[in-house]
Amino acid sequence: MRKLLPILGSHTGGRSALTCRYRCGDACFHEAPNTSGNEYAGDIIARALSRRSVLRAGAVAGVVAAAGTGACSADSAGAATADGDKVKGKPAKGLRFPPVEPNTHDKVTVPEGYKQNIVIRWGEPILRGAPDFDPEKQSVKAQEGQFGYNNDFLSLLPLEDQESGNKRQLLVANHEYTDEILMFADYDADDPTREQAEIGWAAHGLSVVVVEGDRKSGALKAVPRHRLNRRVTATTPFKVTGPAAGSRWLRTSADPEGRTVLGTLNNCAGGTTPWGTTLHGEENIDQYFANTDEVKDDEHRKRLNRYALKGTETERKWERFDDRFDVVKEPYEPHRFGWVVELDPYDPDSTPRKRTALGRFKHEAAQPRLTSDGRAVVYMGDDERFEYLYKFVSSKRMRRGESRDDHEHNLTLLDDGTLYVAKLTGDSPDDEIDGSGQLPSDDHEFDGSGKWIPLATGDDSHVKGMTADEVYVFTRIAADKAGATKMDRPEDVEPSPRTGRVYAALTNNTDRGAAGKAGPDEANPRKGNKHGQVLEFAEHGDDPAARRFKWRLFLVCGDPEDPGTYFGGFPKDQVSPISCPDNVTFDAYGNLWLSTDGNELGSHDGLFGVATVGRRRGEVRQFLTVPTGAETCGPIVQERRVLVAVQHPGEVDGASVEKPASQWPDGPDTYVRPSVVSVWREDGSDIGV
Ligand code: FEO
Ligand code: CA
Ligand code: CA
Repeated sequence: MRKLLPILGSHTGGRSALTCRYRCGDACFHEAPNTSGNEYAGDIIARALSRRSVLRAGAVAGVVAAAGTGACSADSAGAATADGDKVKGKPAKGLRFPPVEPNTHDKVTVPEGYKQNIVIRWGEPILRGAPDFDPEKQSVKAQEGQFGYNNDFLSLLPLEDQESGNKRQLLVANHEYTDEILMFADYDADDPTREQAEIGWAAHGLSVVVVEGDRKSGALKAVPRHRLNRRVTATTPFKVTGPAAGSRWLRTSADPEGRTVLGTLNNCAGGTTPWGTTLHGEENIDQYFANTDEVKDDEHRKRLNRYALKGTETERKWERFDDRFDVVKEPYEPHRFGWVVELDPYDPDSTPRKRTALGRFKHEAAQPRLTSDGRAVVYMGDDERFEYLYKFVSSKRMRRGESRDDHEHNLTLLDDGTLYVAKLTGDSPDDEIDGSGQLPSDDHEFDGSGKWIPLATGDDSHVKGMTADEVYVFTRIAADKAGATKMDRPEDVEPSPRTGRVYAALTNNTDRGAAGKAGPDEANPRKGNKHGQVLEFAEHGDDPAARRFKWRLFLVCGDPEDPGTYFGGFPKDQVSPISCPDNVTFDAYGNLWLSTDGNELGSHDGLFGVATVGRRRGEVRQFLTVPTGAETCGPIVQERRVLVAVQHPGEVDGASVEKPASQWPDGPDTYVRPSVVSVWREDGSDIGV
């Protein structure tokens, strides 16, 4: 049943106030919690999106030298034409579809010639005994057996199934958070009921559900009540593993050993391991914990503040129903969240683990790769303004066998190794990094070198004044002391399975260059950065475990007409506008695919493909857009199928069950429902060829 996966197996703004309230606890309205004094390395007014063709060809002649030399010592990349010259030839293989124009349609808009279906919606029954979705009669028990809310990360794992001729796959989904005001009719945010709180707990977490391709069409359907289907919620027991397991910082009255945690929260993106498990990042966990301002112990309160915990009561008010959400009553419970969790989706009886060796912060995602000798390397972003990029390198090697022993061994890989944080240094004159996004004149690239600073190895701390378990539990504080580079909200970070180069989405940071904040640096070159950038880096000697790397910015996102944008050297008038990159994945040809969260250009969020090598490097092409209020998540690009998780549709200021802002997916007089969507080509051929 279990399949080892390809070594580099990739599964993988403009937010409304409602998003901020429910998703990240109004994070953007708070001061960014990184007030550390480590190295600080024009607000661009976004023009209204012009309704020009994103692929129009101009007439101005001109030729510039190929871009893309230098930083990553990679291909001679870039297009050999300036803006205005239509680049000759076809788009890169895999990206040959008519791009979707920016739009605000309340639906999933796909390229001409492509079709779509809903794979699964919030509330559809997946476990035996679970009832059909009835939002007027929703119960805790029902939700515990149904697909959760706000699907984010998706992974598809192979499944051998003789009956279905190997057409079945295992879909794993994250359920990042709940929008109570869109889930419950007449919801009273000041006085939620216990049942509403507990439905919220059950709607968080993870789902595992078998899916099956339709033989006649390209549709993908969930297989309810399959024995492998599973729900993990905010109350499922997790085992804490790795060097901080049992640490005094993880002990609570319910768990004096500090080794068993109930539940997982705010699972954003994740990764799929080569040994056939999935990883899930616990991200904005601060919003679930009340009364930080009442904590008397100054040191403890400061540590909580460094993780953005503050204030008194929470939005969802779960502290009224379980003391563990009140930090005055259970001071260390927040330390038990903010980890990467690992799930063995092939074993529905397995206990999921919290992997402390990967550090504690606002984990966006975790996509592993292997070194040539089989050690696991995991890149990780801490998604908050001015936070850091991290890397974990395991000490043990993956075993390629498929025996029980081999699998048990592989389940220990993420428990022992070295945790690093990144420091990036630019190579252009400081005065040329002026915050506008204009490329420096010396080498016409934002680029430079970087190093991975070790924070801890197993039980040994590399940070003066901190024990190893403190480094793992308070990783942000350790990284401050190490002098890491403050980035513009590091999101998903993944290696290309084709080139080995690594791509990190830096989604935005409107505080960059604000008074008292870190100013622009070469890796984060724009003040008031609304649109984000994509960092590309190459590890020294192509060794994923290397301590040094070269980096350059691959995309500086935004309106292509804005001079402070850059698209890998491709003519800017021939790309789709992209804003706020978030999730990252690759197709079989090595093209990078990016989903967006919070488009600041006036369009709904979308999914984009972009070539990373050759003459078409930097040619961004939009594949789809999502409905009103939604974010594009969990992209998976297979040869004949693209999967996206449409998260928080209808999440618009003032919206509620009674006043929905979206009618997706089922039309008028139905609840708006986060759902997974599958897209395929009408004629059954491969995507984008
Ligand atoms: Fe949950 Fe960083 O997005
Ligand atoms: Ca430079
Ligand atoms: Ca995300």
